[in-house]
Amino acid sequence: MASKLLEVKDLSIHYKIRTGWVYAVDDVSFTINRGETMGLVGESGCGKTTTGYGIIQLLANNAYIKEGSQVLFDGTDLVTLSTEPSKKYEGYRRIIEYHPEMRKFRWKRISMIFQGAMNAFNPVFKVGDQIIEAILTHENITYEEARKRVERLYKLVGIPVDRIDNYPHEYSGGMKQRAMIAMALALNPDLIIADEPTTALDVVTQDRILGEMARLQKKHNLTMILITHDVSVVAEMAHKISVMYAGHLVEFGTAREIFKETANPYTEALMKAFPNIRGEKKRLQAIPGSPPDLSNPPKGCRFAPRCPYAKDRCLEEKPPLVEISPGHVSRCHFAEELYGELSGGEGNE
Ligand SMILES: Nc1ncnc2c1ncn2[C@@H]1O[C@H](COP(=O)(O)OP(=O)(O)OP(=O)(O)O)[C@@H](O)[C@H]1O
Ligand SMILES: [Mg+2]
Repeated sequence: MASKLLEVKDLSIHYKIRTGWVYAVDDVSFTINRGETMGLVGESGCGKTTTGYGIIQLLANNAYIKEGSQVLFDGTDLVTLSTEPSKKYEGYRRIIEYHPEMRKFRWKRISMIFQGAMNAFNPVFKVGDQIIEAILTHENITYEEARKRVERLYKLVGIPVDRIDNYPHEYSGGMKQRAMIAMALALNPDLIIADEPTTALDVVTQDRILGEMARLQKKHNLTMILITHDVSVVAEMAHKISVMYAGHLVEFGTAREIFKETANPYTEALMKAFPNIRGEKKRLQAIPGSPPDLSNPPKGCRFAPRCPYAKDRCLEEKPPLVEISPGHVSRCHFAEELYGELSGGEGNE
């Protein structure tokens, strides 16, 4: 039976800014089993990175987690572990800067490849040494043992081992990205959060690296959250998919459910805006309008102002998450009526 590794329940993360709040993530819930890859997709600014940071609890100083949010990792609620009630803002919790208990989870059990991390290596140190250093910070082993591990990791991610002693500027973009993947794997974590891991690369390199990640995932039964705005990437990689729009989770299900049994108008719009993964010809349709300002989101459904199916009620009431079938949920007042009517990303013309 599939065993649950991560359960995110009603996660809400808001940023305090001078003029008020940015409602970046609101009531996001999903579950990931061991050995699964979950794709987290949505347009720029919809809260994907904030959700990733909310899981590993590495949020910015001005981020507040709403009371009632849960991030259950292998049975432990990381929100309780790493936050305390805010004295300033009622109903919110804030991150405790240094928490010894959380250290047991961050990097060792959950690692993250940051968006734009390709340039995160320090230019004055050799790449291999930076990974060795990360291992030695967390594990009580010798330099030689750590170096041996990095050699194994380089083989795993496809970098020639003799590159260990090169500096970051001597690596190509693809190689730096592979080294980041090696870094994320270095402490043998249970969960890897990869935030746009290949977006900065050319398509050929992107394809090759994604292929290798898929192979690694399968071979080592890794559990992964793959954050991307690119629907074709999740189509290729993900077992489960979370679709986000303007801070809300709008649909969650298996890849098949999301692509073939689409139950949310935003998911349909997003699929139509991306090329078909099989390269079949279809006319791409841009989503009219633009996402709302998250410091002042619409009070009803956040997609309603752009939704071709919206009715009066959508502008007034926030839709609940409706369960279409076990595990497949959609945040839409008309999810049940629209289910079966909407066209998914595959198979439509
Ligand atoms: N520290 C911060 N303070 C205030 N607002 C923030 C902060 N960090 C992010 N935001 C805002 O929160 C919202 C969600 O941002 P986030 O980076 O999570 O989106 P994203 O889906 O990862 O976008 P992208 O695809 O561009 O990476 C955006 O409106 C963003 O401007
Ligand atoms: Mg992001």
